[in-house]
Amino acid sequence: MKRIGVLTGGGDTSALNATIKGICLQADAMGYEVVAFIRGWAGVLDSGEYTILRTGQVDPDIGGTILKTSRTKLAKVEGGYAQAVKNIKTLGIDGFIPIGGDDTLSVVTHLTGVRSVAITKTIDNDVGTNAPDGDVLDYGQIINYYTPGFATAAARVAEFVSMAKGLRTTAYSHDRIIIVEAMGMSAGWLGLAAAYGHPDFIVVPECPLVLDELAELVFERYAAQKEVIIALSEGAIGPDGKVLYEDDANVDAFGHKKLGGCAEFVAQWLKDALGEKLQTRNFNSVIPSYLWRCGAPTATDRDNAIALGRKAVEELDHGADARMACLIRKGDELIASAVDFDVLPRNENGSLVPRKMDKRFYDEEKMCITTAGIRYLEPILGPMADPVRPAALSVKKVADG
Ligand code: F6P
Repeated sequence: MKRIGVLTGGGDTSALNATIKGICLQADAMGYEVVAFIRGWAGVLDSGEYTILRTGQVDPDIGGTILKTSRTKLAKVEGGYAQAVKNIKTLGIDGFIPIGGDDTLSVVTHLTGVRSVAITKTIDNDVGTNAPDGDVLDYGQIINYYTPGFATAAARVAEFVSMAKGLRTTAYSHDRIIIVEAMGMSAGWLGLAAAYGHPDFIVVPECPLVLDELAELVFERYAAQKEVIIALSEGAIGPDGKVLYEDDANVDAFGHKKLGGCAEFVAQWLKDALGEKLQTRNFNSVIPSYLWRCGAPTATDRDNAIALGRKAVEELDHGADARMACLIRKGDELIASAVDFDVLPRNENGSLVPRKMDKRFYDEEKMCITTAGIRYLEPILGPMADPVRPAALSVKKVADG
């Protein structure tokens, strides 16, 4: 029987099992066996651990990855490419589907003699290219409209800051200023998506944050409504272009400095700047961290991920190599398509260049989403509801009678 190899690498997401399910379903339909490596590239290399995956073993409504994952960077392992190719060939694999983010996928064109079709995943949504600049923003030209996993994390961020299910009610009850930290590395897609939950302000890494300007906006908003919610991207930078806060000691296997914690930094900064003026010490930070990445996928995320899994198998069956299954927008629909992997920009080391949030989607002055940004998110999150806040009470003073 013909064989297709698969692995998941990098941080997990809610839609990985859905992608794997799509691969299994299409493999069944086309007569392939699925050889699934355990823990990403680590499974292909030293441990050599794999399983023959059956469609019934995979539940697309469960988050994480049944195959487990690791942040093993093949390019950093001496002789890694050659060993990977050898092990893949030893198992008689006809085509390979790595599922990952920028680091996992960078290897696709280095596996000489192994045909590969990649599928992206990352809650950061930073793999792909934006629509070209110009007067008309053509959403149909976005390559890899969104990365599976992002849709669910985006919905979670929005929910987390919202009135219906999130922090707005507690912020109101306690007159709090709450800074919620979104993941996303150096891209602001997740922070932007918080817009669906109507935070007061959004901070993204694509636009340097001038803390004094934020303090001014927070002062005015707090004076008017007595609670403020800010969605802050973990990779937010200052005017010097440096991230506001990073943990120097912590570097992941890909060599990236680990982000996380800038909400605490900004909360403290605002407290120092505004505490006295606003007569409150209620400056709080909330860092949900892995809560963004876990749990069941949204129906949109699940169905698109399944469609992409199927598409990758179809591509391999048609003889494709060095391709990427990805979503392309046609009208209001997202269609599972495929493009040459080479269309993704790379840096001098051969690593993929992370896709930044399109600045046309963000109003830097008001620190909020633009109409173009809402149009972008609509196929991912549906129509945006109107903002709601707790109803205002007409409060009198006893002394006034
Ligand atoms: O790339 C996905 C991501 O969740 C980022 O948003 C975040 O900065 C990072 O992974 C966290 O990495 P780790 O899983 O190594 O803690």
